[in-house]
Amino acid sequence: MKRDVRILLVGEAQVGKTSLIMALVGEEFPEEVPARAEEITIPADVTPEKVPTHIVDYSESEQTEDELQEEIAKANVVCVVYDVTKEATIEKIRTKWIPMVNGGLGKGSRIPIILVGNKSDLQAGSSMDVILPIMNQFSEIETCVECSAKNLKNISELFYYAQKAVLHPTAPLYDPEEKQLRPACARALTRIFNISDQDNNQILSDDELNYFQKSCFGNPLAPQALEDVKMVVWKNTTDGVQDNGLTLNGFLFLNTLFIQRGRHETTWTILRRFGYDDELELTDDYLYPPFRLPPGCSTELNHLGYQFLQRLFEKHDKDQDGALSLTELQNFFSVFPCVPWGSELYNTVCTTDKGLLSLHGFLCQWTLIAYLDVRHCLECLGYLGYPILSEQDSQTQALTVTREKRIDLEKGQTQRNVFLCKVLGAKGAGKSAFLQAFLGRSLAAQSENRGEPSLYTINTVQVNGQEKYLILYEVSADTKLTKPSDTACDVACLIYDPSDPKSFNYCASIYKQHYMDSQIPCIFVASKTDLPEASQQPGLSPMEFCYKHCLPPPFLFSCHSQGPPGTAIYTKLATAATFPHLNAMELGAASFWLRVALGAAVTALVGFTLYRVLAQNK
Ligand code: GTP
Ligand code: MG
Repeated sequence: MKRDVRILLVGEAQVGKTSLIMALVGEEFPEEVPARAEEITIPADVTPEKVPTHIVDYSESEQTEDELQEEIAKANVVCVVYDVTKEATIEKIRTKWIPMVNGGLGKGSRIPIILVGNKSDLQAGSSMDVILPIMNQFSEIETCVECSAKNLKNISELFYYAQKAVLHPTAPLYDPEEKQLRPACARALTRIFNISDQDNNQILSDDELNYFQKSCFGNPLAPQALEDVKMVVWKNTTDGVQDNGLTLNGFLFLNTLFIQRGRHETTWTILRRFGYDDELELTDDYLYPPFRLPPGCSTELNHLGYQFLQRLFEKHDKDQDGALSLTELQNFFSVFPCVPWGSELYNTVCTTDKGLLSLHGFLCQWTLIAYLDVRHCLECLGYLGYPILSEQDSQTQALTVTREKRIDLEKGQTQRNVFLCKVLGAKGAGKSAFLQAFLGRSLAAQSENRGEPSLYTINTVQVNGQEKYLILYEVSADTKLTKPSDTACDVACLIYDPSDPKSFNYCASIYKQHYMDSQIPCIFVASKTDLPEASQQPGLSPMEFCYKHCLPPPFLFSCHSQGPPGTAIYTKLATAATFPHLNAMELGAASFWLRVALGAAVTALVGFTLYRVLAQNK
């Protein structure tokens, strides 16, 4: 929205520019005027559009051509004033004034012009016959008006049109030569139609139209007005009304009609409500509402966000099979400037048997975006029309900022529902397979995968009867882990391949360098346990290493399975992430190590007894 409007009056000498300004301000005809009026500022609250407005006079006798050019450059709209009784002043519009204002400017950046025929009190007829050809020649002319400073006719109208030309310009919306909406405007209105078509049947029903009307203009249409609108569209188009509702073509026609009848502010109100600026781009204010994410906190969708997304999923699941096909997903993205998710999506979240995006996978993907890139999440919710469809101020209401992690650790409890697990391990240790297994895919199923590989997978797991989202992130062995943020996460999964003798050492050194002294819980995972174990390198065995560092014993994992791989390890990771303050011993490791120790004791005892027996028999 514009902060101020600057109106400049130009035209031949003695056409009445100064008189018009003085007449507006004094509300009477000034018998005597100076050559040039002082700049006038009208405060916002007394202007029809509630914006501060500056009115600037020009006088050839007081200003040089350079000074005039400076004023033109500062103006938002130029009123070219002529004297309706003097043909010569009309001729100069075409030959002098319009070229001077817009001569050097390209089509998109031209200053809107209003033609003002003054001294209409002196002439019975109208100058329109001469003016219309000029209006047709220059598309930057917004409108024309005949007025009189003498009998105060059309004076406030003139300044209102000027203000309107700036606040609700025609040029971005409508091509007067082609007599149709400009492509960018048609695109924006199409997006607005798609958002407003809440049941996705390509028709705006009475309910949908009323919702739309209410969100744009504050109140629904009266039943009769609604019928009138449909009638006008029905009469003037072949396909504008269908099943007693408005089609996209009908909706576009209606807006064309508003503009052709000089009611651009109606279309502008709609566009602005849906977040568009004067260039018909979505504004940053709309896409990126202020959102503070303090360090140590994370972002999650709240129930409002999930509710909204589920509703949109259902809207686009036309065949109601609980999944979005490629076409349905494309349709979902029709309100985006471009498709934000690539084919790695299918390797990030769970899919149906047919490889399609399920509601669960869809919500997981949104959870991931909200967690990883809240700005992008706000942007996407903006494209989807969140503030309009949920009747809320902005997308931020769909999100929750969690408590600082440090406080969670101090208090020993967390409200978080989304946790990040970094999966580290040597090259070929089985990280990617481990990530894919989280989506229920065995090795065989993984080999059929289509889509780009993904460094993330996300799914839900039950932790003490509560559903939590767990994000797995694969950290390549090539990654230089230099900053603390490179290894920061809620739980670390150190994965090694027992069939590769060097694989464990990598994990052991990562652990010692980055995690040993951190508060991040760590779990070692032995992968590919369906393969025979290789003889280990000298030094502590994985088992001994974990024991020494008070870690749970390595979890034995394999995804070389018939059906979906086991899920126990993912629950373990999520549990460790949820209760990081409980150390490994409390998380079940203690009982394990106790069993190991007991086992050793029993062996020793048995050995000792055997020895005794053998000794006795000697
Ligand atoms: P410059 O500053 O020299 O460029 O002239 P201007 O365009 O500011 O014209 P100005 O307001 O000084 O008016 C010129 C003459 O026209 C004055 O004598 C005004 O009284 C007269 N005049 C202005 N407006 C009207 C009008 O609406 N009707 C009639 N009859 N006379 C007008
Ligand atoms: Mg003057």
